[in-house]
Amino acid sequence: MTDPIDVEVQKHGEDSIQRELFGTRLGFILAAVGSAVGLGNMWRFPYRVAEGGGAAFVTLYIILTLCLGIPLMLCEFSVGRRTRLSPIGAMRREGGGAWPLVGFLGVLTGLLILSYYSVIAGWVVRYGIEGILHGFAADPGAYFEQVTTGVAPIVYHIAFMVLTITIVSVGVEKGIEKASLILMPVLFTIVIGLAVWAATLVGSGEGYSFYLAPSFEELLNPTTLAEAGGQAFFSLSLGMGAMLTFASYLSRHENLNREATTIAFSDFGVAFTAGLVVFPVIAALGLQSQVSASTVGALFIALPGAFVEMGTMGRVVGIAFFFALTVGAVTSAVSLLEVVTASMIDEFKITRRPAAIGAGTLILLVGLLPATSLDALGVIDSITEWFLAVGALCMTIFVGWRMKDPVAEMVDGASGFFAAVVPTMMLFVKFVMPPIIAFVVFWSGRNAFNTLVTTLTGGG
Ligand code: PFF
Repeated sequence: MTDPIDVEVQKHGEDSIQRELFGTRLGFILAAVGSAVGLGNMWRFPYRVAEGGGAAFVTLYIILTLCLGIPLMLCEFSVGRRTRLSPIGAMRREGGGAWPLVGFLGVLTGLLILSYYSVIAGWVVRYGIEGILHGFAADPGAYFEQVTTGVAPIVYHIAFMVLTITIVSVGVEKGIEKASLILMPVLFTIVIGLAVWAATLVGSGEGYSFYLAPSFEELLNPTTLAEAGGQAFFSLSLGMGAMLTFASYLSRHENLNREATTIAFSDFGVAFTAGLVVFPVIAALGLQSQVSASTVGALFIALPGAFVEMGTMGRVVGIAFFFALTVGAVTSAVSLLEVVTASMIDEFKITRRPAAIGAGTLILLVGLLPATSLDALGVIDSITEWFLAVGALCMTIFVGWRMKDPVAEMVDGASGFFAAVVPTMMLFVKFVMPPIIAFVVFWSGRNAFNTLVTTLTGGG
């Protein structure tokens, strides 16, 4: 796993800006998994499942992760590795014309996502700290409300952004690789342990059937399909050039298809296991009404309930959980800021530190809005979900129809099965994916519009 790849700094493209590269293949995988695995798996997935039809959502999510997620990730990887540029420059070089706009959209999306992602990460940090100081609250619904209102969420958001900015200023290798290497496995181990524990709870059956037994009608609901697609893109960090940017730090001869498959399965595994914790716990502890009052808080209401139930042990597990989740959030936040920072470095020819600080400060300021209003958070979340779908559609069309010989880039470094399927996969990218993703774009645009209108007219 740890075979070293190109360590020396290389010149990229026609200009002579030096570009850092990942030190090891493992470093790349961990950084990409670190980007994918985060609040999207632990917080957003259960929340979207709770809101959007339970098991039908889960089923569509699995199908879309495999059928759209893996090929799309391969598309982003191939553009990033070929151009060795961040999204705007990459689209300019390979596509020309108006294509760089897709890169701009990605940068805007990253900026907006991080603005509220950091707020939620702030809640996570606070749960961890309060767990250490006082233990977990016996009334998780009321506690969630307390955590998300007032000045505290602003303070925690600022602290989290400062941490993210610091890591990104230090640079790709030192910052991202080390953080991912140590704590991703810890997070996964805790979540598996919790899922096993949840299975022993009396009364968890209803939670499992909500989560795992789909109704046929819901499967055919276009909104559920669009939401599952949006969640798949979000969770896999696709549609805004994050994976493209990571691959731009990758030397040649990596098996891109195998990496995309590994990353998608790991990401799916964590999200699915998170659901195996959250839903049985909600059912067994009778937290349904508290969760439906605030679906956004499904994770934050279910888990402290579980930790209290587990007694002293629960406190230790809970603290470890929130600590590991903080790290998961940091590695994803780093990748979001990295997209914006790398674009500024490439576009303005400035160095990493001012780019990271400038972009990070802007995001910190935008984040003051979601930090003070859950409604604003919901609106930005649904608008960015739509942006991700638009980005995903453009990327698919770009690689399918515009990029020169994408198959050559995709198979470079691949072998066996992973190389053999690429030509067929490209047909899929060209002809099948665009209409499906266009459908997701239409419905998630409609969702975003409805959320915006409901919130503005005071109905949300
Ligand atoms: N995939 C991350 C998560 O699931 O938490 C969030 C994310 C990171 C989305 C990077 C998009 C992105 F470009």
